[in-house]
Amino acid sequence: MRIVNSEFKISATNPKQYPMDDLKEIVLVGKSNVGKSSFINTLANRKNLARTSSVPGKTRLINYYKMISKVASGETEENKDFYFVDLPGYGFSQMSKQEQITVGNFIEEYLSKSKKISLIIFLIDIRHDPTSNDRLMYDYIVSQNIPCVVICNKADKLAPTKVSPQVDHLQELLNPLHDLQFLPFSCEKKNYTEKVLELLENHI
Ligand code: GTP
Ligand code: MG
Repeated sequence: MRIVNSEFKISATNPKQYPMDDLKEIVLVGKSNVGKSSFINTLANRKNLARTSSVPGKTRLINYYKMISKVASGETEENKDFYFVDLPGYGFSQMSKQEQITVGNFIEEYLSKSKKISLIIFLIDIRHDPTSNDRLMYDYIVSQNIPCVVICNKADKLAPTKVSPQVDHLQELLNPLHDLQFLPFSCEKKNYTEKVLELLENHI
């Protein structure tokens, strides 16, 4: 699969604003600053499609980005469009309690009400054991029965030989049954992108 074009579609704060078309949605979930918006930019091969920041808590809305992609089909290529949905990050300590609750409600409302989610990309930081908020979110996702892949981002921050053992370690902590796929990723180096594109192809 290759993503040939991309565009911002809409920022939503409530279900009435979710797009009405039939495109499937691949949604980015994870704590603030883990790289959700950067992930979308990396896959879309754009610098500033989704707004990123070194200041956590940048994304406070549900942002839809339409991806125009082509998938090999026999001798030719088939057009397949889908949305990346960028959710606000949770666990940003400088947000007030009330803001954290608002963000939590946004995320939960979207995950429970959107009927078109084909895959949750659950991003965690490869360098750190999952936080208590990560565990809460993981349990919630599993309870919703939506297909999910766990992507361990910022792999460029580890020595290459440490990447694979650390991914195994994180899976052991979060998913000891090994029934989800865990993959390394780096928005910075972009060296694990092909594998992720292959996976996404099965969900659009
Ligand atoms: P919120 O919108 O606050 O929830 O954050 P986010 O998850 O969208 O994170 P964002 O994409 O804004 O990235 C946060 C910071 O991490 C930025 O400074 C990025 O440049 C940096 N970053 C993201 N991915 C990577 C990565 O793979 N490697 C490195 N080294 N930095 C990264
Ligand atoms: Mg963001």
